[in-house]
Amino acid sequence: MAALDKSMMIGVIGAGAMGAGIAQVAAQSGHLVKLYDNRADAAKETIASIEKQLKRLVERKKFTLEQVQQTVANLQVANELADFEHAGLVIEAIVENRDVKQAVFAELESICSAQCILATNTSSISITRLAAGMKHPERMVGMHFFNPAPIMKLVEVVSGLVTSKEIATTVFDTAAAWGKVPVYAASTPGFIVNRVARPFYAESLRLKQEQVADCATLDALMREAGGFRMGAFELTDLIGQDVNYAVTCSVFDAYYGDFRFQPSLIQKDLVDAGYLGRKSGEGFYSYKEGAVKPEPHSVPPSHHPAPSCVAMGNLDALSALVMRLSGSGITVDQDPSSLLNVLKIGDATVVLTDGRMASERANSESLENLVLVDLALDYQKTTHLALSRAHNTPDDVFQQVVDAFFAVGIKVSEVADSPALVVMRTVAMLANEAADAVLNGVSSVEGVDNAMRYGVNYPLGPLAWADRIGIDRVQQVLNALQTSYGEDRYRTSLLLKRLSDQGRGFYENK
Ligand code: NAI
Repeated sequence: MAALDKSMMIGVIGAGAMGAGIAQVAAQSGHLVKLYDNRADAAKETIASIEKQLKRLVERKKFTLEQVQQTVANLQVANELADFEHAGLVIEAIVENRDVKQAVFAELESICSAQCILATNTSSISITRLAAGMKHPERMVGMHFFNPAPIMKLVEVVSGLVTSKEIATTVFDTAAAWGKVPVYAASTPGFIVNRVARPFYAESLRLKQEQVADCATLDALMREAGGFRMGAFELTDLIGQDVNYAVTCSVFDAYYGDFRFQPSLIQKDLVDAGYLGRKSGEGFYSYKEGAVKPEPHSVPPSHHPAPSCVAMGNLDALSALVMRLSGSGITVDQDPSSLLNVLKIGDATVVLTDGRMASERANSESLENLVLVDLALDYQKTTHLALSRAHNTPDDVFQQVVDAFFAVGIKVSEVADSPALVVMRTVAMLANEAADAVLNGVSSVEGVDNAMRYGVNYPLGPLAWADRIGIDRVQQVLNALQTSYGEDRYRTSLLLKRLSDQGRGFYENK
């Protein structure tokens, strides 16, 4: 099945934030688009505003004037739903209310031809439920764009129980022809992105609640070590604490109160206080006039020369750090036959977190002066790392590690001794949720990874990231989190466990 022919008219219902963006995308791709909104003049005003925005992009040389004129010529106001009689696809982007949406689709069925595809941009309503009662429920499909639709590449193509495979394929191919990255998803709560992204917020919220570090430090670590565009606190302030909290609550309720999705009390408190983020002037940060964004905490260097190091045994991911240390003139002796698998920096014993807390690991493995290193997206490039230490690692020994990392351009934030530090904990939980989405047939491995890369700009898909960390290590981290907290929230996905037992990764056989 191929994409819809460019000669086919596309109907868009709802001229708000999403409808406007979707109409623009379809018009830019060469379709005639009719835009309907039940608010008087809304569609007309939206088209005028699209034209204005596109003309600004001509000034910035992103579009030619001809392209803009063509796009605008493709956009027409629909005065009533009857104008969609000859549409090949109608995409609904109106208020998020099932009854209102169902009334619109019932009317569309009496207007459009039996071949017309009916799509909804809903973020949270079941496609199966929306289609129920329709004359042709098999032609109802989710076409979930991300905001702003002209910029965000992802489109989740969501199938309900009775959506026809051919319809989903046509919509998938059409989204691809429009320059998007489509992924197939089954209609389950949160679809892919709004489900798999939950731990990104939840783990940072919990780290803050447990006073592992402050918001600015946690955000900086997620950006500078994790490679995410924003940390959870700045991002939820941008999204709106009320909006983000409502999505979490809706996913939590839809999964019958599964503790993996448990909402955060500190976020509820913000919502209760009216601290909704940027839009209200206060959230986790203040946006009031004159407010200064707090600086992340990092440990200052001592200005003593960096100590010498010994790489003992197999250091896996940390070998990139060893190369950085030796590349910048620090003496690093090699002891490859050692069974310890630790990096000695001065008197400190430095290892990558396996999820256990530092004191716990120091006790059980009799490791002296233990310092744990958090995950970084790229140890060769990172400018920031979280470290934690066992209770009996003294300040001067910890300082030696800080000095060595400072010498290679890495700031160190010391965080409280807590399971799996910051980035490792978050990425392991993202991978776990992503694995569960695959296990439950919500999407494929590539589909989930693409969804997270193109819907929320993650630097790597969580499953590709899990492969890079090593499935065994991710499982160890999750097991350690579950043992430490004793909570079902951290239970390992069966798929991760299965792959670990089979010695395989998500993408390839190891
Ligand atoms: P919006 O409030 O900006 O726009 C909705 C538009 O629909 C308004 O112009 C309203 O007048 C119109 N409308 C309401 N009822 C109507 C009806 N019965 N017939 C015709 N027009 C009607 O809302 P937004 O943000 O554009 O969201 C639209 C849909 O897209 C919702 O289902 C939402 O869940 C979904 N969505 C929203 C995203 C976002 O970030 N805002 C992202 C992805 C999906």
